[in-house]
Amino acid sequence: MVESSSSGALTVMRLAQYTKADQEEILGAGEDPFGVAWTGLTWLPKEDHFGIGRHGRLVAHTGLLRLRVAIGGTETEVVGVGGVAVAPGMQGQGLARLIVTAALDHARTMGPQHALLFCRQPLIPLYQRLGWHRLDEDVLVEQPEGRLATMPLQTMVTPLRDDARWPEGSVRLFSLPM
Ligand SMILES: CC(C)(COP(=O)(O)OP(=O)(O)OC[C@H]1O[C@@H](n2cnc3c(N)ncnc32)[C@H](O)[C@@H]1OP(=O)(O)O)[C@@H](O)C(=O)NCCC(=O)NCCS
Repeated sequence: MVESSSSGALTVMRLAQYTKADQEEILGAGEDPFGVAWTGLTWLPKEDHFGIGRHGRLVAHTGLLRLRVAIGGTETEVVGVGGVAVAPGMQGQGLARLIVTAALDHARTMGPQHALLFCRQPLIPLYQRLGWHRLDEDVLVEQPEGRLATMPLQTMVTPLRDDARWPEGSVRLFSLPM
């Protein structure tokens, strides 16, 4: 479990696990807390989880997952970022900035040169504010039964090294999206 530090400042902690119940503790038990059900897509769970706790309750989360991709026909890996969530009563206070920044600090130790996420159109300015860039190439993602789908959400990327430049060309994930 995560806790705020003794000074009362909110700190980001690595979580040993992140369950559906944990997500509901943050966002409630709504049908579609991320507003992406309309895509009809199947998603991958994340592998590394970061959380912010307050008064013994989880109030924010971000997950990471290493993903195999092809960019312009060349295979490589990116760090997928997903499940970014802040409890409704705590939104607008910088918690997404705090937890995404901490998750990216960890992502920089994982090897890939870039991180990638998918978001709804209204969240593009928020992620731009956090230093992410729009990727306007079509992105193909895998779906059950061997299907391929074009990602209908906005793809955003951010470098994990100072000298990293996103290569040109179409993008394909060799997995479900995260
Ligand atoms: C999206 C979400 C995670 C944002 O969390 P949050 O804690 O309110 O975000 P923050 O307060 O950290 O804001 C991050 C930055 O974006 C800025 N920002 C927020 N909305 C913005 C907008 N519409 N345009 C430009 N910048 C915006 C903030 O000012 C802040 O920048 P600053 O730190 O320089 O002031 C939260 O609303 C949420 O959990 N929503 C439900 C789940 C969801 O949709 N998750 C997204 C999955 S991709």
